[in-house]
Amino acid sequence: MKTAVIGSGGWGTALAMLLLENGNDVTLWSYTEEESRVLRETGENPMLKGVPLPKELKLTTDLGCVAGCGVVVLATPSFAVRSTARQMAPHLTAGTVVVSVSKGIEKETSTTLTEAIHEELGPNYPVVALSGPSHAEEVGRGVPTAVVSASKDQKAAELVQDLFMSPRFRVYASDDVTGVELAAALKNVIALCAGCCDGMGCGDNTKAALMTRGLTEIARLGVAMGGRKETFAGLAGVGDLIVTCTSMHSRNRRCGILIGKGMEPAQAVKEIGAVVEGYYAAANAKALAEKLEVEMPIAAAAYEVLYHGKDPKVVLQELMTRAKKHEIEDSWV
Ligand SMILES: NC(=O)c1ccc[n+]([C@@H]2O[C@H](COP(=O)([O-])OP(=O)(O)OC[C@H]3O[C@@H](n4cnc5c(N)ncnc54)[C@H](O)[C@@H]3O)[C@@H](O)[C@H]2O)c1
Repeated sequence: MKTAVIGSGGWGTALAMLLLENGNDVTLWSYTEEESRVLRETGENPMLKGVPLPKELKLTTDLGCVAGCGVVVLATPSFAVRSTARQMAPHLTAGTVVVSVSKGIEKETSTTLTEAIHEELGPNYPVVALSGPSHAEEVGRGVPTAVVSASKDQKAAELVQDLFMSPRFRVYASDDVTGVELAAALKNVIALCAGCCDGMGCGDNTKAALMTRGLTEIARLGVAMGGRKETFAGLAGVGDLIVTCTSMHSRNRRCGILIGKGMEPAQAVKEIGAVVEGYYAAANAKALAEKLEVEMPIAAAAYEVLYHGKDPKVVLQELMTRAKKHEIEDSWV
């Protein structure tokens, strides 16, 4: 199948290589000429060191590459998803399936990324979210990985499942696109907090508690927004949360470590150098939780640290000394 991957960061490149391996015709689009030149001249992506780019992979900076594609993968940072969808719209062929692989919520509107794509492209383009525990560095090296292809359009979700599925990349299909996207975006907030705990020198107990209670509040918001509870116990939920909170590949966790060690949050984001999606998602989580009246104490605490400079040690003490609760909200009722 003719395909294009829009965005040549680590993730776009790893997915383009998978598509190529599965026998597709693949063009990888870069945002800048410089990015494309580095790929062409060095034969590798700087984010995937030691993984040679196959010669059959076509490189371009022309968004016209989406014309006539069966599937187009959007792999930009979340802040650029809507604008990129808008720019590629005039080149798209009706019926092309658009796959969103970015993990975030739109900053200004708090809409999910597949919704933003739908709004830009209209009803003629089925949209799928592909998500799960999948560091580009590992997918690039062929490490066995499992993800979810989610869409309201079953045919489109299954087409994307078939397209990416390989002995090293297992894809499950799901109809819960809202749950999958919210889980993907919000786990980055918890990963920032997990890094903060590491930076402050907390132990494994603290991190396990944070991940578990973090997942509880992610699911609470996700269900309030129309997602299914089971999705949060799946690959895009707990699966991605585990990988992001424990791996040094996670920029969100690395950023949190710097903050936990005392660096000012905006400086820590700069230090990481690439997009730290959890920084923005924390503001979305706070806004959505307030709007829908959902209790999200960890996300609210993260917001205070990231945007109001509150000391993470103080925030942790406040979380630990909240009023006592039942673990399962409807127990004994
Ligand atoms: N890196 C991973 O392991 C991984 C895994 C799963 C999902 N993701 C998600 O995929 C998305 C991309 O991740 P990445 O690590 O490849 O990111 P990245 O920051 O390296 O950026 C990806 C690419 O987007 C393009 N781009 C940058 N700014 C742009 C703009 N203003 N307009 C249009 N295009 C622009 C560039 O080609 C850039 O290389 C993120 O949302 C991330 O959360 C990443």
